[in-house]
Amino acid sequence: MKILVTGIAGFIGSNLADRLVKEGHTVVGIDDLSVGVLEQAPKEVEFHKIDIRSKDIYPLFNGVDAVFNLGCSKNYSILEVISVMQDIIGMHMVPQFKPDIPGEVQANLGNITEAGNIK
Ligand SMILES: NC(=O)c1ccc[n+]([C@@H]2O[C@H](COP(=O)([O-])OP(=O)(O)OC[C@H]3O[C@@H](n4cnc5c(N)ncnc54)[C@H](O)[C@@H]3O)[C@@H](O)[C@H]2O)c1
Repeated sequence: MKILVTGIAGFIGSNLADRLVKEGHTVVGIDDLSVGVLEQAPKEVEFHKIDIRSKDIYPLFNGVDAVFNLGCSKNYSILEVISVMQDIIGMHMVPQFKPDIPGEVQANLGNITEAGNIK
């Protein structure tokens, strides 16, 4: 499968990408590197340094079978409210693509078990 992971340079995204690559999946990664470190992601990943709130991420969904949306800021400062709002915008942007994904691909989204494995 071709799988898109946002926040791929972060803790969970990079470890998930390691697992997906080892299982033979093609992985497309997005991260703005605001927190994450690119070297944490496996070198096999097709990486794009983009903010998930940008419309520039639209073309990256072409041919993608599944999306893991892990791009999230962790700014627990006085600006926390703004930070949370930014994350909500990002969470809104990414699922927007679902209606554009062909029915066959949407069916594949059901191929992920509760444990996070690809069936
Ligand atoms: N780590 C945990 O134990 C844990 C537990 C439960 C839930 N979560 C959730 O899982 C998600 C990922 O957690 P993590 O620990 O990997 O966080 P992390 O901070 O290590 O990784 C988040 C990544 O998202 C990137 N990012 C932030 N804002 C972005 C944006 N606007 N556009 C693109 N990339 C952006 C950062 O650069 C970073 O690489 C978060 O939503 C977190 O709340 C984490």
